[in-house]
Amino acid sequence: MSDSASQPLQGMSDIGPPEIALWQHIESTARSIFPLYGVSELRTPILERTKVFSRTIGNETDIVQKEMYSFNDRGGRNLTMRPEGTAGVVRYLSSLGQEAGDARVYYIGPMFRAERPQAGRKRQFHQCGVEMIGAANPVADAECIALQLQLLRAWGLSDCRLKVNTRGEADEAAQVAESLREALQAKRDELCEDCRRRFDTNILRVLDCKNEECSSIVDGLPPLTEFMRSDSRKYFDDVVERLDQLGIEYEVAPRLVRGLDYYMHTVWEISHSALGAQDSLSGGGRYSIAVGKKRMEGVGFAMGLERVIMAMQACGAADRIAAHALRLWLVSMGGVALDRNFILCQKLRQAGIACGMDLGERSMKAQMRAANRAGADFVLIRGDNEIERGVVVLKEMASGEQRELEESKVADELE
Ligand code: HAM
Repeated sequence: MSDSASQPLQGMSDIGPPEIALWQHIESTARSIFPLYGVSELRTPILERTKVFSRTIGNETDIVQKEMYSFNDRGGRNLTMRPEGTAGVVRYLSSLGQEAGDARVYYIGPMFRAERPQAGRKRQFHQCGVEMIGAANPVADAECIALQLQLLRAWGLSDCRLKVNTRGEADEAAQVAESLREALQAKRDELCEDCRRRFDTNILRVLDCKNEECSSIVDGLPPLTEFMRSDSRKYFDDVVERLDQLGIEYEVAPRLVRGLDYYMHTVWEISHSALGAQDSLSGGGRYSIAVGKKRMEGVGFAMGLERVIMAMQACGAADRIAAHALRLWLVSMGGVALDRNFILCQKLRQAGIACGMDLGERSMKAQMRAANRAGADFVLIRGDNEIERGVVVLKEMASGEQRELEESKVADELE
């Protein structure tokens, strides 16, 4: 099917009516909430140098190892379609120097990962994300989580589950990894093949491996916080205390580490029961990212909009979002009626009324069918008879009621 000329590539979708109304609603709701937190939009390119992602996300991560769409351009530069938003935002903000200060930005747009497609997992998907730049501070982490939950509630998704954990301070990452390696050493050979590789390259990821054998081994380990310094534990305690202050419910998930290497301190995921296997609506955390000689710290999150839509559809929140429909459809019986309706249609649009009409001279039945397809609230019917008497017929589709009126009264009637 994916080879057919009329189909998009596997794992990628065309998004059109009626579903597009839901996308537009989600985006406009988000755009009305971000300013409440002083967050402004940033649009970075979809295509970047590959090293923007590999250095930021980490060479040993699944994304960089096997999921990026990368290619050499004609100049021999290795480029990648962005698999996530944080790397590009941080690249841009680092170019601002001091001005990046405590920048707060959001982005909404397509991301690309060469994953095996399934429900809720696409190769082109869309993220709505936020990055708040600034030195580590538990208040910022809690604020970022609060913003995200406000957004989810505004989309009608209040029934979400928040899991939080900490990865500790960036400068103790090597020490934490080493302690974990020691704790796991005796069980190394019982781990799955991927985790045996991760043992040396990215040991934290062993903690959230889905393989049953690995998770039962990991269950026997002490929580990650035991390998951390007390100031890191204190940082995390402060974050959860702030969440308590805001009345936000959460679950501390000691195995949650997230799949990108740039994280430090707080990490979190938000899921929704309606989503099943791919239940992660959103992931975020605090990060420290080196760009050239600089280091950018910040906290942020990204939500997968396909999954947000699936959750909204599953819990009924999507039903309340009306598709864009026309207010009026003009039906013309005969050429003179078509001429007059054509002029009226344009006048009504200029008065801000959404309307449409059949541009050919099709049968009444075909034109009424078109009105139905367009979801018009009203139909205006005009034929020779109405023209002679200087009126038009206005029919309300829902009730079937219809009456005659002068053309000049139509706009008032529809407001
Ligand atoms: P991530 O967990 O890789 O984090 O992705 C965030 C969200 O994007 C996921 O929770 C999921 O909803 C959605 N998502 C990821 N992959 C797919 C896919 N193949 N199909 C559909 N949806 C998908 C990040 O991307 C980080 N940049 C988040 C972040 C921002 N952390 C700090 N700032």
